[in-house]
Amino acid sequence: MGLANRIGAVALAVACAVLLLGVACRAGQTSEYRRLLGQAIDMPLDADVFRAPPGHNAPQQVHITQGDHEGTAMIIPWVTTVEPGSSTVLYGTSEDNLNYSAKGKHSQYTFYKYTSGYIHHCTIKKLKFDTKYYYAVGTEETLRKFWFRTPPKSGPDVPYTFGLIGDLGQSFDSNVTLAHYESNSEAQAVLFVGDLTYADNYPYHDNTRWDTWARFVERNLAYQPWIWTAGNHEIDFAPELGETKPFKPYSSRYHTPYKSSGSTAPYWYSIKRASAYIIVLASYSAYGKYTPQYKWLESEFPKVNRSETPWLIVLMHAPWYNSYNYHYMEGESMRVMYEPWFVKYKVDLVFAGHVHAYERTHRISNVAYNIINGLCSPIPDQSAPVYITIGDGGNQEGLATNMSEPQPSYSAFREASFGHAILDIKNRTHAYYAWHRNQDGAAVAADALWFTNRYWMPTDDSFNDA
Ligand SMILES: *[C@@H]1O[C@H](CO)[C@@H](O)[C@H](O)[C@H]1NC(C)=O
Ligand SMILES: *[C@@H]1O[C@H](CO)[C@@H](O)[C@H](O)[C@H]1NC(C)=O
Ligand SMILES: *[C@@H]1O[C@H](CO)[C@@H](O)[C@H](O)[C@H]1NC(C)=O
Ligand SMILES: *[C@@H]1O[C@H](CO)[C@@H](O)[C@H](O)[C@H]1NC(C)=O
Ligand SMILES: *[C@@H]1O[C@H](CO)[C@@H](O)[C@H](O)[C@H]1NC(C)=O
Ligand SMILES: [Fe+2]
Repeated sequence: MGLANRIGAVALAVACAVLLLGVACRAGQTSEYRRLLGQAIDMPLDADVFRAPPGHNAPQQVHITQGDHEGTAMIIPWVTTVEPGSSTVLYGTSEDNLNYSAKGKHSQYTFYKYTSGYIHHCTIKKLKFDTKYYYAVGTEETLRKFWFRTPPKSGPDVPYTFGLIGDLGQSFDSNVTLAHYESNSEAQAVLFVGDLTYADNYPYHDNTRWDTWARFVERNLAYQPWIWTAGNHEIDFAPELGETKPFKPYSSRYHTPYKSSGSTAPYWYSIKRASAYIIVLASYSAYGKYTPQYKWLESEFPKVNRSETPWLIVLMHAPWYNSYNYHYMEGESMRVMYEPWFVKYKVDLVFAGHVHAYERTHRISNVAYNIINGLCSPIPDQSAPVYITIGDGGNQEGLATNMSEPQPSYSAFREASFGHAILDIKNRTHAYYAWHRNQDGAAVAADALWFTNRYWMPTDDSFNDA
């Protein structure tokens, strides 16, 4: 907390103590912190982080994601550029004995005048829980080795730490966000809320920027699975270029384990990871009644067993609750469709991106309205999730600084700075959450609190400034 925030919080606490009015205490906080506003500039093509690894046809752009519903498989993609080479992954639990192998596949795609390299995807399965695996891709000439750790078997009190990053892009600020995340934490996987590369902001959606982005993030992604959510910058719908298949570059490069949760498309799916159940929704795929996503989600919620995975977390790209004057109400129609389920099934936390800033709400819902009764305002609701917008990864579009005034009562904290967050699940009742702005040292948390679980301990937690 900055000094100004601290004084603000103390003043607020005093006011509450004096007035003893719960209502007065609900006032939110708009951080006084101001970062030096400058444009976020993309790193040039010759930046150090974009360098291809040395060696003939060396595998590059290695990035992993969970490969099944339970956490015992890993999807391992990479790219070769000169010739296809091998699609096989060698792996094992001992660094110098990679005595298992799995065969993958490779493919290429074109986008306008761009032709991709050979994109390999290999899923390694039947892994043991909570185990460090070493793996290698490439051929003997240029073999590259990495490692990852599988999650512990799901269980109600299994601790696990997630990183949260959104709208990352490939600017100098993006690089600071990633470095800050890396230096910060014990996090073991990232929940990514969409908008990866911003390649579509370049002329002809220059797809070489998909390659540079994947080389940039490899330093983390080859070792930690990132759980993917599709954002609007993944759509790449460009009829003027003859490109009419939505999500072509994204879906060619970033696979998800959607089939293992009964989904019929890679953009909405679910996974279990330790004590968390993660549902990924698609803001840019049909979600209305009777659509595949609607029917999937309808049957998905009843499957969540809170005795096994107490923490129910939803990821999406366009936020439902957002008090910035950017993308205002873009998430509204999906909110209208799905919010009653979120309350009924007691979702703990919802993370979204899209707005390039940070915001956290109180626990509120807005499900009473029926077009004639006038009940159209969000109300405090202890069965409702906390909504967090974390689209502040640092992409080239810069920060969203224009906020609606006064701050709506549902908004607990908001600040226009780049950053990332850490969600540290301790057990079935408690999780420590902290948002870190890029300008601060690793240990400083600009917004931090303890969340209590909606199923096991539904106490009023969104005021507990930690
Ligand atoms: C990106 O960040 C890394 C880690 O801090 C640093 O080594 C590298 O030089 C940075 N690159 C650019 C282009 O800022
Ligand atoms: C692979 O090596 C490990 C020891 O590193 C051993 O436990 C395992 O049984 C071996 N598996 C196979 C299929 O050779
Ligand atoms: C829910 O999970 C618990 C703990 O793993 C298990 O004992 C129970 O049988 C599960 N319930 C259902 C309905 O599957
Ligand atoms: C902020 O957004 C509001 C609402 O869209 C607009 O009226 C206002 O001009 C904006 N202010 C600035 C400084 O851009
Ligand atoms: C859960 O974790 C919290 C925070 O570390 C701790 O205070 C609480 O005692 C733990 N609960 C149990 C049942 O261990
Ligand atoms: Fe977006």
